[in-house]
Amino acid sequence: MDRQAQIELLLDHYENPRNRGRLENPDAHVSWGNPGCGDVITLYLKVSDDGQITDIAFEGEGCTVSQASASILTEKLKGQPLSYAENLTVDDVMSWVGREVMLSRPRCALLALSTLKLALRDLPKKPS
Ligand code: FES
Repeated sequence: MDRQAQIELLLDHYENPRNRGRLENPDAHVSWGNPGCGDVITLYLKVSDDGQITDIAFEGEGCTVSQASASILTEKLKGQPLSYAENLTVDDVMSWVGREVMLSRPRCALLALSTLKLALRDLPKKPS
């Protein structure tokens, strides 16, 4: 994806966020923010007994990059196994937002991923 397409993707997710809102009775629910700017993301996750992310939503306040990244993250995760979420890396986020954005705004681009990692720790252990 070229730079212009990447910027358009981010703007589209910021202006038309996917999976924005809250979930009732989530299995995990975590808020996390960047202390420097005060931007915050709250993630809600529902996970099936066999470890699939059946639903995910976010709420938040903040810059275009942080909120667009959260929207993209929820789109990528819905319907995926928990192992996919557990193995997501900085490189995955960079492939979504673009190298330039990642290098110039890393804290913004990674806020959603950091929130996700905390939410995964918040999940109750399911009986196996
Ligand atoms: Fe705060 Fe982007 S300026 S997360």
